[in-house]
Amino acid sequence: MTARVIAVAQQKGGAGKTTFAAQLAVAWAAKKSVALMDIDPQGSLSAWHGLRVASERALDDIHLSSVSGWRVAMELDRLKSDFDIVLIDCPPHADTETKNAMRAADLVVIPVQPSPMDVWATAPTAEFADEQGTPVRLVLNRVPPRSRLVEAVQAMLKDKKLKLTKNHLGNRVAFAASMMEGMGVTESERSSQAAKEINALAKEIEKAAS
Ligand SMILES: Nc1ncnc2c1ncn2[C@@H]1O[C@H](COP(=O)(O)OP(=O)(O)O)[C@@H](O)[C@H]1O
Ligand SMILES: [Mg+2]
Repeated sequence: MTARVIAVAQQKGGAGKTTFAAQLAVAWAAKKSVALMDIDPQGSLSAWHGLRVASERALDDIHLSSVSGWRVAMELDRLKSDFDIVLIDCPPHADTETKNAMRAADLVVIPVQPSPMDVWATAPTAEFADEQGTPVRLVLNRVPPRSRLVEAVQAMLKDKKLKLTKNHLGNRVAFAASMMEGMGVTESERSSQAAKEINALAKEIEKAAS
């Protein structure tokens, strides 16, 4: 088995990296074996995973490795041979670990909130991924309903020649609420709009990474 490796990165904090990593992992875990790598020293993904392990409602097993420094590459090699998908939650800066994670990945996914500040902050992350020779997809996150802003942001990104996914995530309480219980929306609120969004995005990203 050789896993598809997907790195979730964005130099701007609070963009949704950890939310993406956890929610995508749960969506994929329904059908595949999934490993998460938390290389952000903040450890939010590990905290979520801790809740998950203790939860009686979480459905599928998801492996988590929390590593740093020289162990990252070694651990990634190990996980690649044991799982279908490896998802890496990167720290909010462009350091050596992020660089190595991006280089080892089949795809770098960058969450972007639909605001000019977030778009400006995205270019360096996308360039950094590009320098590692890894394809990039930007995903709009926390999209408000009926917003013209989305089209404006889409146009801005297109100008910069950045590839945006067709699917995006709305600004929904369900994402945070499920994570408070160590779950993802595809488990806790299976027929919600949030679950539909993450399932559609998971499908699109898997295709882009293969
Ligand atoms: N689609 C969303 N809808 C609502 N809240 C969201 C969404 N995505 C992220 N958030 C919230 O935004 C905050 C930052 O998200 P997080 O995943 O921790 O970002 P990062 O890991 O990039 O710092 C968290 O409070 C999270 O619950
Ligand atoms: Mg985070």
